[in-house]
Amino acid sequence: MATASKPLLLSDMVSSGEMNQVPSKYIHPITERPNYQNVVPDSIPVIDLQNLNGPNRSQVLDEIRRACSDNGFFQVKNHGIPESIIANMMQMAREFFNLPLQERLKMYSDDPTKANRLSTSYNVRTEKISHWRDYLGLHCYPLQDYIHQWPTNPESFRDIAAEYCRSVRALALQLVEAISESLGLDKDYISAQLGSHAQIMALNYYPPCPQPDLTYGLPGHTDGYVLTLLLQDEVSGLQLLKDGQWVAVDPVPNAFVINIGDQIQVISNDKYKSAMHRAVVNSEKERISIPTFYCPSPDAVIGPAPQLVTDDEPAVYRQFTFEEYNRTIWKDGLSKCLDAFHAT
Ligand code: OGA
Ligand code: NI
Repeated sequence: MATASKPLLLSDMVSSGEMNQVPSKYIHPITERPNYQNVVPDSIPVIDLQNLNGPNRSQVLDEIRRACSDNGFFQVKNHGIPESIIANMMQMAREFFNLPLQERLKMYSDDPTKANRLSTSYNVRTEKISHWRDYLGLHCYPLQDYIHQWPTNPESFRDIAAEYCRSVRALALQLVEAISESLGLDKDYISAQLGSHAQIMALNYYPPCPQPDLTYGLPGHTDGYVLTLLLQDEVSGLQLLKDGQWVAVDPVPNAFVINIGDQIQVISNDKYKSAMHRAVVNSEKERISIPTFYCPSPDAVIGPAPQLVTDDEPAVYRQFTFEEYNRTIWKDGLSKCLDAFHAT
């Protein structure tokens, strides 16, 4: 367990004193700061999954194909996860971040190889600029390998988070099938490429920030995994880069924001894009988001699907193991890792 001699967590720095200025290590160079004047209002599609498993499946697949080829971002409603499971998870996350410091610090670690840990920013060991975020990272699949390392405070944390993870995994599997089919591949193709599969979750906590135009909750990045299913509370902050402009992705109650990760960009041979996105902060309200990252297992070998490689569209990427990719994800700050995996 860590000691509390200097604040390890952003939330404790923020709540322990009169913080009316962002400390210098959080300040981005002037050309890389969020420019709120240039952010475009929300325009990403909300796809109704009600008909995904019915006679109108092909229409839903068309919508998914369009969203994935366009910018790889969409929201889903009528996804089958009960509202109570969503509400309980969000409530549990809020309660966790409201626990006394000493209690939360039991989960603290700055070691990115540790599967279940509370930390701050992104990778505090290597990054040059810090981000306005604390987060609890949890591995969720196979559940029995990890659940004993999860918090036990709040008391029902494990039960509620486990139920949430199981539900989100079922939705992720349906979306992975639909995405596979929408690419013209067998519906099981992508799933079969993911080895024994893995699932990670982050509970992101963004405290109010006195100068939100100087820093980020998370600066622009792509998600390095297969698929992200993000639950956000009612406070806006997520933005995606579309045609060179930042677009707000505003919260829709009980919906999930879905985005394509780097691994699908590779398997699809660039037909689908893993879009740049970021989280901005605000001076008024704390914000909580809970992304689930659906992942290959470390031994999975990822590469463009042979069916999507032609003379006209040669393989854009080489094959790699997910273990190799995952090492680059955590190497330094947040970045776009895909460039390192181009075919030669
Ligand atoms: C992430 C992420 C966005 C958000 O955790 O990878 O992009 O709105 N989060 O918290
Ligand atoms: Ni992300």
